[in-house]
Amino acid sequence: MTEAFSPKNIIVTGGAGFIGSNFVHYVVDNHPETHVTVLDALTYAGNLDNLKGIPEDRLTFVHGNICDAELLDELVPGHDAIVHYAAESHNDNSIADPEPFLRTNVEGTFRLLGAVRKYGIRYHHISTDEVYGDLALDDPARFTEDTPYHPSSPYSSTKAASDLLVRAWTRTYGLQTTLSNCSNNYGPYQHVEKFIPRQITNILSGIRPKLYGDGLNVRDWIHTDDHSSAVWTILTKGRIGETYLIGADGEKNNIDVLKLILTHMGQDEDAFDHVKDRPGHDRRYAIDSTKLRRELGWQPEHTNFQSGLDKTIAWYTQHQEWWEQTKAATEARYKSQGQ
Ligand code: NAD
Ligand code: TYD
Repeated sequence: MTEAFSPKNIIVTGGAGFIGSNFVHYVVDNHPETHVTVLDALTYAGNLDNLKGIPEDRLTFVHGNICDAELLDELVPGHDAIVHYAAESHNDNSIADPEPFLRTNVEGTFRLLGAVRKYGIRYHHISTDEVYGDLALDDPARFTEDTPYHPSSPYSSTKAASDLLVRAWTRTYGLQTTLSNCSNNYGPYQHVEKFIPRQITNILSGIRPKLYGDGLNVRDWIHTDDHSSAVWTILTKGRIGETYLIGADGEKNNIDVLKLILTHMGQDEDAFDHVKDRPGHDRRYAIDSTKLRRELGWQPEHTNFQSGLDKTIAWYTQHQEWWEQTKAATEARYKSQGQ
């Protein structure tokens, strides 16, 4: 049984970041009946250029913090849903300095749930498969909605905490929520601190790519457009109070991904450096998205990883001005960590 919901006026938190901005483009391109208000603090990871080209009558941008309850009181009335992407999102940063992760990921979610409760609107919570911890390389299992939470890093533990707040607020206060946990995204507008854009922009900058540890760690890659279509499907057709896992059967280890990037960019496949491993580095993530596919009829469209990767390489090659401002500072931070 699915419930139909036709959102007309949604707030997208974190809509100037990587996945949030791709979702905003997706909604603007595919759902002309829906107006989007982006609420974003424009941290180091937010960039207004990610929303360039969207017609003014389709988008309102609000520069503000999700922890600001007064701002939420002004903003939320008149909207019919919040889709919550805003987060501190990078594991390595969370290891170096966990505090902003507690504030944004835990307190920020708490504040949003307070506003959702007060104004009685729908809420969709964006989360990650990292809340489940990791799987062994030789384990045939994949994560499902019933896998117990077992987060490893400061980042994933704060995302797990925020998921639990959503579930508790839904049960106790009867909030109208849905929740999704997605695997690793790739595509345009991803910050150069993340694995795939870091290696592409390293090569474009004449820097050798950097692989953590033995590089056998597996991530389950999904194109960000498939994440967007899945979130829209859950928001509009998902059952209230339910969690859906989002994945596109894209398991690959880091060395294989790096070798693909190198060869597709005309480099020798061994032209990279092994660097210090990430402390507590999760070994493998893998998503079983059967529930989403069977119950709501969702299917990923961008399942050819090599073709998606080529388009992503082309995007970073053609948008040097988008990333070169942040590249030097990002690499300086990694260098100070020995990575
Ligand atoms: P990102 O770091 O690229 O973007 C985060 C955005 O949130 C930025 O625009 C930033 O300015 C904004 N933001 C941060 N703190 C804020 C605050 N206190 N108030 C308002 N705005 C704030 O992140 P991303 O990779 O696009 O991830 C988006 C969401 O998707 C996160 O919730 C993340 O946990 C989840 N997720 C990410 C992945 C992935 O592969 N990147 C996979 C699964 C789930
Ligand atoms: P990342 O993009 O940080 O995503 P997550 O930690 O959420 O999975 O990293 C993806 C994988 O790539 C992870 O196993 C760590 C590894 N990695 C490297 O090997 N080198 C790098 O320079 C980075 C940033 C990540």
